[in-house]
Amino acid sequence: MTAPVRTARGSEELIRAEEPVLAHNYHPLPVVVARAEGAWVEDVEGRRYLDMLAGYSALNFGHRHPALVEAAHRQLDRLTLTSRAFHNDRLAGFAERLAALTGTDMVLPMNTGAEAVESGIKVARKWAYDVKGVPADRATIVVAADNFHGRTTTIVSFSTDETARSGFGPFTPGFRIVPYNDLAALEAAVDETTAAVLIEPIQGEAGVLIPDDGYLAGVRELTRRKGCLFVADEIQSGLGRTGHTLAVEHESVVPDVVLLGKALGGGIVPVSAVVGRRDVLGVLHPGEHGSTFGGNPLAAAVGTAVVELLETGAFQRRAAELGAVLREGLAALVGRGVVGFRARGLWAGVDVDPALGSGREISERLMREGILVKDTHGSTIRLAPPLTVTAEELTGALGTLEKVLTS
Ligand SMILES: Cc1ncc(COP(=O)(O)O)c(C=O)c1O
Repeated sequence: MTAPVRTARGSEELIRAEEPVLAHNYHPLPVVVARAEGAWVEDVEGRRYLDMLAGYSALNFGHRHPALVEAAHRQLDRLTLTSRAFHNDRLAGFAERLAALTGTDMVLPMNTGAEAVESGIKVARKWAYDVKGVPADRATIVVAADNFHGRTTTIVSFSTDETARSGFGPFTPGFRIVPYNDLAALEAAVDETTAAVLIEPIQGEAGVLIPDDGYLAGVRELTRRKGCLFVADEIQSGLGRTGHTLAVEHESVVPDVVLLGKALGGGIVPVSAVVGRRDVLGVLHPGEHGSTFGGNPLAAAVGTAVVELLETGAFQRRAAELGAVLREGLAALVGRGVVGFRARGLWAGVDVDPALGSGREISERLMREGILVKDTHGSTIRLAPPLTVTAEELTGALGTLEKVLTS
């Protein structure tokens, strides 16, 4: 990156300008990004920052990965949207390759993560009525406390985060909430009305909470034994982030349905998908579900290029290798400002000593030192750099974290 991008207004002015015209549903760090490449972003004044959040894992391949940008450019010059009223020449290939990558049969293409979750819920309910024989409108879905699956009214209906829920009722019925990482609670909650157990294999928003070894395999065994679906929300954990294509692979588990989003769009377009076996996704018939933009040719072209990047396994290996560097670096900070951390692949939740500041304050200090991260609850910060980050960049960022926590 060379000379800064020229903008009519500087960072401070742009931040002030947002206040009266943008709904206040976010509280961004005070940085105004104007350009980015790989793991680095540049603000309006030309200051550079290492992006250690990567769009909550939507930028697993870094900003503007050349193969993804090229796929988008080529498609922009040919065909962008048809709706599903007609076929387009990019969708079959995308679905074939995504199904093969994830080891399943069928793909239901959507756009955002929340839409994939909503679609997964609808598929599970339909399966419960059509295949399992649950009486009409009696289907239940068992979910975990402290989940994060998105922001629609149905999804916040089974959130345990009061900020996400309060003021948005009435809520959608049909969900049972059990503690995460607790197979006995799950066993007690699943009954003959249960369509599915819907969980994140690692709870991202909750602070990168990794369940005990055996939990995911236990969910698989329990759902199979009790005759309900296992729906894994891999929207944040999937597509290379944890060192595997899917985080459930750490326990060699194959869910019935997997929800994907974020990185599937390569950081260029919103692309999400429900993937699963034919006997499950096959419950949908024409007219029962849809989306104007879902499966559009631009999304399919970028999504295919994303799948191509993952087919080699190189990004997954890189996440595993650099994950070891990340874990080692964080372990060295325990007792030096860090009170604990959880990490898998290139993804970590770091609990900072609350005496040193809130997660937000630590994030702001890191920002001033050229590192972008995001806080979550209390004094926890999340690290999820692009999988293209180098070992040197990673150790540099950990050095900056140490400086911020110990100076
Ligand atoms: C696990 C999980 N599911 C669903 C979502 C919702 O995705 P979106 O923001 O694209 O609707 C997110 C977003 O952070 C997520 O982390």
